[in-house]
Amino acid sequence: MRNMITMGEFIVKKQAEYPTATGELTSLLSSIRLAAKVVNREINKAGLADIIGSMGAENVQGEVQQKLDVYANERFKAALEARGEVCGMASEEEDDFVAFSSPLSQNSKYVVLIDPLDGSTNIDVNVSVGTIFSIYRRVSPQGSPVTLADFLQPGHRQVAAGYVIYGSSTMLVYTTGFGVNGFTYDPSIGCFCLSHENIRIPQEGKIYSINEGNYIKFPDGVKKYLKYCQERDEATNRPYTSRYIGSLVSDFHRNLLKGGIYIYPSGTNSPNGKLRLLYECNPMAFLVEQAGGKASDGFGRIMDIQPTALHQRTPYFVGSTKMVERAEAFMREFS
Ligand code: AHG
Ligand code: MN
Ligand code: MN
Ligand code: MN
Repeated sequence: MRNMITMGEFIVKKQAEYPTATGELTSLLSSIRLAAKVVNREINKAGLADIIGSMGAENVQGEVQQKLDVYANERFKAALEARGEVCGMASEEEDDFVAFSSPLSQNSKYVVLIDPLDGSTNIDVNVSVGTIFSIYRRVSPQGSPVTLADFLQPGHRQVAAGYVIYGSSTMLVYTTGFGVNGFTYDPSIGCFCLSHENIRIPQEGKIYSINEGNYIKFPDGVKKYLKYCQERDEATNRPYTSRYIGSLVSDFHRNLLKGGIYIYPSGTNSPNGKLRLLYECNPMAFLVEQAGGKASDGFGRIMDIQPTALHQRTPYFVGSTKMVERAEAFMREFS
């Protein structure tokens, strides 16, 4: 058996390399890890317990909330509030941001933005789902209640970001701005263990991922790029392969490891696409850039967008640098 390093050990080792680090981020990441284990346990037995299906209510996004959306949101909120390293949280499943009120929380310097359960409509059919998180340093003074401005920061100000994928195995992949590392959960010992050190996304890939059922509504640049992906050309290894799961975390994870592009463009009914800038696009953008890839809204860098609302959406092109750049060239020419 090779020498195993747990995520806890890995973070402590990294922290030792930064003498100014105070340990708060380490503790915050450990809360996320703990909540991920609890959510993982519930997801694994979803078919047995009465936790699949809808809550019978809509969230602020106008989506039918699944029971596991609510469960995952509550678990992560509780884990983040309990230790006091976070002064507030914003979530896809909450109408407004949540301010944590304990003096310990108010003194903390971080806020967390979260998609507690990504791809939740897939849970009923046993398809991989995920959790996406994003961490910023607050801009309001420590010791005071958290404010909206603390959450509306451009993605390039993220301190850390990551996701958990509850798949054929459960993994946690994260960055603190020094590369991307992945940890696989070993349920027999209850630990995330280092399995994917310093992940790099290939510059070119062969996979394109998009919900092509919306084709008729796509901008011309996307339509033309899709035709490019499907044309035969030996020199550029085309046609590419189409892969779309419908869980951003799973589609992103596959393309990160194998090379590829994921697109959720604007459509006539959704001028800014479907994906949420703060809970989905920015954290994945931070990860992909740290792995050597690119994230764009079709015309510019995702992480340079100044957010104006918590739940704002954006068109999204993410993945291998050369593929995203080519898609942007089609957007410039035809859209
Ligand atoms: P969520 O389950 O967090 O609301 O996110 C769903 C998102 C994302 O996971 C996925 O890539 C996309 O919705 C799929 O949308 P379509 O069904 O429109 O393809
Ligand atoms: Mn949702
Ligand atoms: Mn999502
Ligand atoms: Mn979600």
